[in-house]
Formats: sequence, structure tokens, C-alpha cells
Amino acid sequence: MRSFTSLLQVASLCVGLVSSVWAQSSTAEAYIASESPIAKANLLANIGPSGSKSQGAKAGVVIASPSNTNPNYLFTWTRDSSLVFKAIIDQFVLGLDSSLESQIQNFVTAEQILQQVSNPSGSVSTGGLGEPKFNIDESAFTGAWGRPQRDGPALRATALITWSNWLRNNGGSSTVTGTIWPMIVLDLNYVANNWNQTTFDLWEEVSSSSFFTTSVQHRALREGIILATALGQTSNVASWTTQANNLLCFLQSFWNPTSGYITANTGGGRSGKDANTILASIHTFDPAALCDVTTFQPCSDKALANLKVYTDAFRTIYGINSAVAAGQPVATGRYPEDSYMGGNPWYLATLAVAEQLYDSLIVWNKAGNLNITSTSLPFFQGLANVGTIATGTFSSNSTTFQSVTAAVQLLADGYVDVVAKFTPSGGGLAEQYDRNTGVPVSAVDLTWSYASVLTATMARSGVVGESWGAAGLTTSCSTTGGGGGGGGGGSSGTVAVTFNVQATTVFGENIFLTGSVDQLENWSPTNAIPLSAANYPTWSVTVNLPASTSIQYKYIRINNGQVTWESDPNMQITTPSSGTFTENDTWR
Ligand code: NOJ
Ligand code: NOJ
Repeated sequence: MRSFTSLLQVASLCVGLVSSVWAQSSTAEAYIASESPIAKANLLANIGPSGSKSQGAKAGVVIASPSNTNPNYLFTWTRDSSLVFKAIIDQFVLGLDSSLESQIQNFVTAEQILQQVSNPSGSVSTGGLGEPKFNIDESAFTGAWGRPQRDGPALRATALITWSNWLRNNGGSSTVTGTIWPMIVLDLNYVANNWNQTTFDLWEEVSSSSFFTTSVQHRALREGIILATALGQTSNVASWTTQANNLLCFLQSFWNPTSGYITANTGGGRSGKDANTILASIHTFDPAALCDVTTFQPCSDKALANLKVYTDAFRTIYGINSAVAAGQPVATGRYPEDSYMGGNPWYLATLAVAEQLYDSLIVWNKAGNLNITSTSLPFFQGLANVGTIATGTFSSNSTTFQSVTAAVQLLADGYVDVVAKFTPSGGGLAEQYDRNTGVPVSAVDLTWSYASVLTATMARSGVVGESWGAAGLTTSCSTTGGGGGGGGGGSSGTVAVTFNVQATTVFGENIFLTGSVDQLENWSPTNAIPLSAANYPTWSVTVNLPASTSIQYKYIRINNGQVTWESDPNMQITTPSSGTFTENDTWR
């Protein structure tokens, strides 16, 4: 581990975190130094065939946890495995650990097998890629479960693309074209063909649309397009581009402008404040995109406002947070309404908050400035010891920049300190820590908990993975079908029409819009435009429609593929010649 530590130190100097060094927490520093090697070793212990806690797992199979009862996590989840291996692949390709190559090769082999295993979600060509988990001997898990979960193929594609990019630069092109690219194509075609379908969220509970799933699907398609182009394998590029543009449009609808946070799921009947959104931000971080808000980058104003709302949601509900002053770091969990295994804070959720803040520091230091908008102002005003804060752009030599970055560094380290405080001696990390006592609860040695230590550590050190193409993306959100044009501003001759419809829905049911013009998908129920339930029971979407045109439309509700149309007659509007237009309806 000696070379690992020194590399991190060198890297941290390179990105110029120097201005904040004096503000670091020595607890976080010491914890990271001692916990990182433990996390790496315990993570590897959970990977077959020779991991010490993963007997029975095939080569490259990641067990979620060795816990085989209450809860039984002795399975392999595509989400957990892909996030774990993204961290492993990053460590290898960034030169932090050269010992991981055969593990990565085993992962590729295991996932190649798992993709082809027919399961309750279908076969490889009929939806099976959305199956959330498998037995550790690579057979299908056939019990009841929240399926499908459509983040898995996207996360796996992201891990495989990162690996492919390294292989191509290191003499492994034939492995890419012969083995890995066909796997990526399967996963990305699944994403392109199914992103608009209902999915269980990453917590396997809510069947609707999910911000995390939408975000990682968008990322995977974008980097897949870049790799496809580099390989000259362009047959899917047009369709992936169309669907990536659609995903980016849909992603915008999760933002709740009234309350200033990202609503995690369109269904679920909860506040929507959820680690889902923090995890989405860190797992779609692209330093080249700086604080881009369209892709909800970690330092974007919306993502920072959201971080404050999310963390504040846990201040009063956990006993271990009761003595913590406003603005100081707290234990955080999946979502405040959670009751699973007691509904406790999760190590990986608390570390994700730290990681989002470290990512932000990387970008501000790289850009040499930071920007405070009215959207992010509450986040900055909530920082300790920054004095009066107003909106504006602050360059790195300003006192505002220096006091804010120092405060953010301390805050981020403070979240690590929370995890440090509730890590038992020995360094083992379970899934959760008790909301009142802080003792570990639920699955022991959760592989994903260990991966979250590795990724937070890399971010703290200023080590960043490769870009995935987030920089410079724009949305027009005018069409959801149509040929593969890029983004771009709204063209003349169209007007932005907001459709609001009051509709009470049942669990798993979502509202869509379709109608008589291309932009409304020509009455197609399968391509219909999803509405956001951020302000439930009002469902909303804004669509660019031709100006001065008479248009017919209807809302439809879709529940598990079952389509219900509004009653006749069709609804009708005539769009204005310019400007915007809002249509308020009630479901008929
Ligand atoms: C098991 C899932 O893994 C967990 O995320 C969920 O909270 C519980 N089932 C309860 O639905
Ligand atoms: C429950 C979590 O909610 C889910 O995200 C995870 O995939 C499984 N446990 C396995 O760790």
C-alpha cells in the first residue's frame, strides 16, 4: 500500500488542493489512511473464485455481502458488481494498483456469462438484461423480487467502456472488438430500447422512473457513442444519440423548482429526498463538464442545493444526529422514510455526500473560480464560518473562494469523520449503522460500502477518472423521437408548451402524453412522452411544439406495460405564434 498512498499524495498536489490543506480534518486523514487498505482487502475478499469470504462464487462474481441470513445477500447484483468494478478498474487504469488486472478479466468473463442467463425478466434478447441479481454460481435467481431494475446494464456498460478504453491504448484492441464490445452493445441497446419503460429503483422498492437510473443510462449511452465512433462501429450511433438526447431531456424533469431539490423517483409516494440523487451525481461526474447543470454535475447549483436538502432531511430523524448543530455533517441514509432493517444511516450514502463535495473542490480548484447562484445560495449560506455570502462568481484569489473551499473541505471531511466515528475497530463496514447507537447493522462486509471508501478516497486526493462526454451537452427537449440530431437551442417556429395534468395514480403507474404531431409522437403509446410527478398529483412536461398550430392530444396512464387512454374526445389546443404556453388539465 505504500505506493498507493504516495501516488495519491502526488496526485493531490497536482490538482492544487493546496489552498485547502490547512483546513483538512486530521480524523478524516487518519481514517482514510487506515481504512483504504482495509476496504480494498475486504472488497477483494468478496470476489470469486478465491476471495476469502466468497466461497462458491464463480470467477469474477462479486457477492453483495457474505451475510447469508437476515438479510441474505449471498447473491450477485449487477448494480453492486458494476459499481465495485468501476472503482477497481479506475484504480488500475489510473495507476493506483497494478495488481488488479486478472480480477478485471474475471469480471468480464463472469458478466459475459451472466448476460446470457435466461431469468425471470427474460432472455438476453427479451429483457433478461434488466434482471437485478443472480445466484453466485451464475444461475438465475427465480424467487420473487423487484424486477426489472434497468440501471444494471448501464452501470455494467460504463465499467466495460472504461476498461475498453484502457485496453485499446495498451495493446488489447482485439479483446475489445472480439469480446467486450459485443457485451457493451447488448447493454446499450437494452438501455436505448427500454429507458422509457417503468423500472424498479436502485433500492429495489419503487417501480416508476428513477433519477439514478436515468442519469446512469444517459452517461452510458454518451460514452458508448464515443467508443463506437473510435472503433468505427457506428451502426447504433444514430439511435443511441437520439435516445441519449431524450434521456437528457427527461432527466431535467426530476428537478423540483419549488422546493429546490431533485425528486428521486416519479412514483413511491415519498418526499423524493434520496441518496439516489447524490449517487447519481458522483457516478456521472465528468470533470471536463465543470459545474454543468444539465448533467447535474456535483458542483452544479442544482446538485449542491439538492445535497443540502437531502442531508437536512436526516438531521431530526436519527438519534445520533440530535446533538449536531445546523450546518455540521450528519449521518445520512437512503431516504428519510426508509424502514428497511430499521431504516438506518448507510455508510455508502454518507460517504457519497463527502465524495460529491470532494468532486466539487476538484472542479473549483481546476477552474480557478466558483459560482453561486440563487439556486445554490442556500447551500453556501449553510456552510459554517463563511460569513455573509451572496450570489456571484468568485475567482480563486478572492476571500470568498478561499473561505468557501476551506469550509467545503471541512464539511466533506466531516462526513468522513461521521463514518470514521461509526466504523468498528478492525475497519469492517456493514450496510448500515444504527440510527440511535451507531453500531453496525444489516449485512456485514457490504462490498459496495468498501467501494464507496475507495471512490471517496480517490476524490479526496483529486484523482479523477476519464471524461464521458458530459461537457457541452445541451437540450432542446422539442422532440422525443425523430432522427439523431444533437442538442441545440429551440428553433424559431416553435413554442414551449407546458402540459400540467392533475392525475391521481396508483403505485407503479405513470402518466404520459401523446398526440397528433411528430413532437407528440403521433399518437404512439409506446413512444409517448413521460410526465414528471415532482409536484404530484400534478404531472408535468414541457414540449416544444410548432407555433400557430392546432394540435390534438391525450394523456395516457401506463402501469407495468398496461396502457389506459383518457376518455374521448381528444383534447385540442392551438399554439400561440411565439412565446410560451401553459395548458392545465384534469385527467379524464
Ligand atoms: C430487499 C432490498 O434489497 C432492499 O433494498 C429493500 O429495502 C427491501 N428488500 C425491502 O423492500
Ligand atoms: C439492497 C440495496 O437497496 C440495493 O441497492 C443493493 O443492490 C442490494 N441491497 C445488494 O447490496
